[in-house]
Amino acid sequence: LLPQELIRLKRDNQPLPAEEIKAFVQGIADDRISDAQIGAFTMAVFLNGMSREEVVALTTATRDSGHVMQWSDLNLPGPIVDKHSTGGVGDLVSLVLGPWVAACGAFVPMISGRGLGHTGGTLDKLESIPGYDPYPAPERFREVVKSTGVAIIGQTGDLAPADKRIYGVRDVTATVESIPLITASILGKKLASGLDALVMDVKVGSGAFMPTPEKSRELAKSIANVATQAGTPTTALLTDMSQPLAPCAGNAVEIVETLALLRGDRPNSRVMQVTRELAVEMLMAGKLAGSREDALTQLEKALTSGAAAEVFAQMVRELGGPSDFMERSEHYLAKADVIKPVYAEQAGNSPQTVQRIDTRAVGMSVVELGGGRLRNDASVDHSVGFTGIVEIGESVDSQRPIAMVHARSEAAAERAAEQLRAAFTLGEGAASADTLLQDTF
Ligand code: URA
Repeated sequence: LLPQELIRLKRDNQPLPAEEIKAFVQGIADDRISDAQIGAFTMAVFLNGMSREEVVALTTATRDSGHVMQWSDLNLPGPIVDKHSTGGVGDLVSLVLGPWVAACGAFVPMISGRGLGHTGGTLDKLESIPGYDPYPAPERFREVVKSTGVAIIGQTGDLAPADKRIYGVRDVTATVESIPLITASILGKKLASGLDALVMDVKVGSGAFMPTPEKSRELAKSIANVATQAGTPTTALLTDMSQPLAPCAGNAVEIVETLALLRGDRPNSRVMQVTRELAVEMLMAGKLAGSREDALTQLEKALTSGAAAEVFAQMVRELGGPSDFMERSEHYLAKADVIKPVYAEQAGNSPQTVQRIDTRAVGMSVVELGGGRLRNDASVDHSVGFTGIVEIGESVDSQRPIAMVHARSEAAAERAAEQLRAAFTLGEGAASADTLLQDTF
C-alpha cells in the first residue's frame, strides 16, 4: 500500500494488515515517509484507536526498525530481564533494582532516559557520579552486563529509530496522549534490548505521566498484553505516585539515598516496597525463583550480605566511575551551596498534617532549581533538589520542616521553598497515603 492508502484505512476506521504497518514503520526509519504522513497517521490512530493486533504489529515493527540486541552468543547463566517505568518524582527504583536482581543471578541491560517534564531521569542521576560513562560502545555494554550482571546506560540512535521520528512528530501534533501509540513507543524501544522478560511500573496519582487512574490502568493492561503477545512475557504493576516515592528528589541526593538503601537502611520504606515487589516479579518471570517466598528470601540475602551494594559498586567502576565510590561517595558527589529547611507557612505551634501533595509541582520545582531541563540541550545541576520530604499523614510544625532544599543560591532556595509550600496541602485531621501497590496485570 502507498502510505496515503494506509492512512486512509485508519482514517476510515478500517483494519490495518500487520505487514502494511511493518512497511510503513520501516519507511519512517528509512526517511521515505514524510513528517506530514506520520502526523496524519498518528492523528488517525489518536482518533480511531487500534486493535490489539495492530498495536502488536506497530510495537514489533518499531522494535525491528533498528538494531535488536542478541545475547545468546554470550551463553549467560541467567535470564535477560529489565524493568521500565512511566516515570515519577523521587523514583530511584531502577538504581536499586538493577543491581539487586543482578545479585540474584539476573542479567539486566537497562537502557534508561533523562528527565522528562517533571520526572527525574535515571541517567541524570548516574551522571552525578564523576567519570560514569552512560554511552559505552555496544560491545563494552555487553561485556559489563556479562561481568557485572547489570549496566544502566543511555539510549543510542540505532535502537528503535522509527520511534524517535514518530515521537518527535507526536510531540508537535497533539498526538502524545494515545494509549496505542504510547504502548508501541515504550515497548518498541524496550524490547529492542533483547529481553526474556519485562516488568513495567505504571504510576498513578498527582505525579504520574497519565492524567487519570483509569488511563494509568488502561496503559498498564495494554503494555502487559501487547508485550507478552509480541513474545516478551511482561507483568505491569500499578503503583502510587501521589507523593514523591523516596523522601528526596534531585540527582546527587537520590544517589545518596540509593547507596543507603543498598546498604540495607530503611528496608520497609515506600520506595523499597515498590522496588522489592518489582524485583519479585523479575525473579519469577526470569525463572530464578519458583515462588514469591523464594524470591523474597533471595532478595533479603542479596541485600543483607552486601551483594547488591557490591554489584552497584562494580557497575560504577566498570563504567568509568571511581573505584572507591561506595566508601567515599560524599567526596565525589556535588553539594549545593545553600542547604536549608523549608517550613510550612501555616505551621504555628500546633502540628499540622500533610493531606495531599501536588507531586508534579514538586518535580517542576526540582527542574527550576536546575536539577532538570527546561530545554532538551540544557545541562543539569546535579547538586540541587530536596531531601527529607515529609510524607502524606506525617505532621509538620515550627520545628519540623516539610523538606530541606538544596540550591545554588539563597534566591533560588527561596523560590523553591515557595513552590514546595504551595505543593503541600496541610490540615488538622489525620490523612493516609494511597495504597502503594494498587494492581498487577
Ligand atoms: N514515553 C515514551 O517513550 N513514549 C511515549 O509515547 C510516552 C512516554
